[in-house]
Amino acid sequence: MKTVVFGTGHVGLVTCVALSIKGHTVVGTDVDAEKIEMIRGGQPWFFEPGLEEALREQLDEGRLTFTVDPRDALGSAQVVFICVGTPPRADGEANLIAVEETARIVARHAAGPITVVEKSTVPAGTAERVKMTLSRERPDLTFEVVSNPEFLREGSGMEDALFPDRILVGAESGRGFQTMRRLYDPWIRDGVRLIETDIVSAELAKHACNAFLALKISYANALARICERAGANVRDVTTVMAADDRIGSAFLNAGIGYGGYCFPKDLVAFEYLANRLGYDFGLLREVGKINDEAVEAVAERVQEALWNLEDKRIALLGLSFKPETDDVRFSPSLALARLLIEKGATVVGYDPSASANARAELPQIEIASDPYEAARGAHCVILGTEWKEFSTLDLSRLRALTAYPVFFDGRNMFDEKQMIRAGFTYVPTGSRPVEPARRGGLNASAHRASA
Ligand SMILES: NC(=O)c1ccc[n+]([C@@H]2O[C@H](COP(=O)([O-])OP(=O)(O)OC[C@H]3O[C@@H](n4cnc5c(N)ncnc54)[C@H](O)[C@@H]3O)[C@@H](O)[C@H]2O)c1
Repeated sequence: MKTVVFGTGHVGLVTCVALSIKGHTVVGTDVDAEKIEMIRGGQPWFFEPGLEEALREQLDEGRLTFTVDPRDALGSAQVVFICVGTPPRADGEANLIAVEETARIVARHAAGPITVVEKSTVPAGTAERVKMTLSRERPDLTFEVVSNPEFLREGSGMEDALFPDRILVGAESGRGFQTMRRLYDPWIRDGVRLIETDIVSAELAKHACNAFLALKISYANALARICERAGANVRDVTTVMAADDRIGSAFLNAGIGYGGYCFPKDLVAFEYLANRLGYDFGLLREVGKINDEAVEAVAERVQEALWNLEDKRIALLGLSFKPETDDVRFSPSLALARLLIEKGATVVGYDPSASANARAELPQIEIASDPYEAARGAHCVILGTEWKEFSTLDLSRLRALTAYPVFFDGRNMFDEKQMIRAGFTYVPTGSRPVEPARRGGLNASAHRASA
């Protein structure tokens, strides 16, 4: 089918490539000419495993093109995907200006009949607004609006787009469902589960999923705070929980919290929507509060262990909001860096791929070219993001480079015994610090941090 994709970001560009791989003709468009220029040259403007190779292959295949001016493409398009950003306003409401702008452009240039697909994450009721815009701008246009929320995860975006665990389509007429079944036919034939609902339920389901996953993470983090105080070990506690099939192990790891372009903004947007509908979803406020506390808890433990932070140097490993991405939007690791810098510390960060974005977001952070350089002379090391490459660190070498051998594991990635063998005082999340056999005042203060 002939498709146009608005927005060539983490969702839009992956969608373009996946649709092309499945045999559709795709024109990707974006307001940012620099991004389009890079993508046309076969270079995504962000890091996503496997995306660059797949993009180049599809450009060569000839079904996939990119433009800043979608007018021509809209004239023959059967399906338009809205994949533009929906950032949070100061009060938490989703800013849908780019969605409205897209609807307006589609209305002006589409020949119709056309199906407009909301793939961006939007509050329930947005499709009605899109329909209103389309018909006001072009009363003669034959169109259908459907909701098709995206569930891909950055870091495995290509895999998720090609082999999703579900495809959700919300529509209000048989024609809308039929168009989407035709579009997703290659996936459906591969056995992917298609869930069809009304439009509002599909819109709401996306917020419901993200808020629930955030809730699970915050539950684990609230447990971590209690375990630290009680002398229990949150890893053991969540292992017991995860053994119960009704609970499951996913998203139950205590750490410095969730971040990225989905959970934080979707949680506040969902709460905002609930409020507007007259329901006080206070549970979601707590989830956000616990997430903020997860970062503050590490900063407090660091301060307790190191005393004054003004003359302290802190190595921070991992800056992206999660591994396998260079995205630092709402990164908990950067939030921690900001907090420590505000308290006077010098933070030296290292990330396998997000260093440039981190520096742009937080210019006060110093960037090291590898983990060992970050650790040189550091008064503690913090693991902020659990990149796989950190699991092969030479911990003895790392410790030898530090001024004080204290390691805060913000993601509970390491084994306590390895850390002790390497000579670190090991401060996991959600349990008390563990020290090598002989230690002086520093470890005593690290111990107090958990009391
Ligand atoms: N990032 C994720 O993991 C993820 C997963 C599922 C859903 N989503 C949702 O998908 C949407 C997009 O997220 P993203 O991470 O891809 O954002 P992004 O910032 O990576 O990409 C958005 C793109 O839209 C472009 N854009 C903005 N206004 C435009 C306009 N008027 N016309 C054309 N292009 C325009 C921007 O230049 C940018 O390239 C959001 O609603 C987000 O919540 C994101």
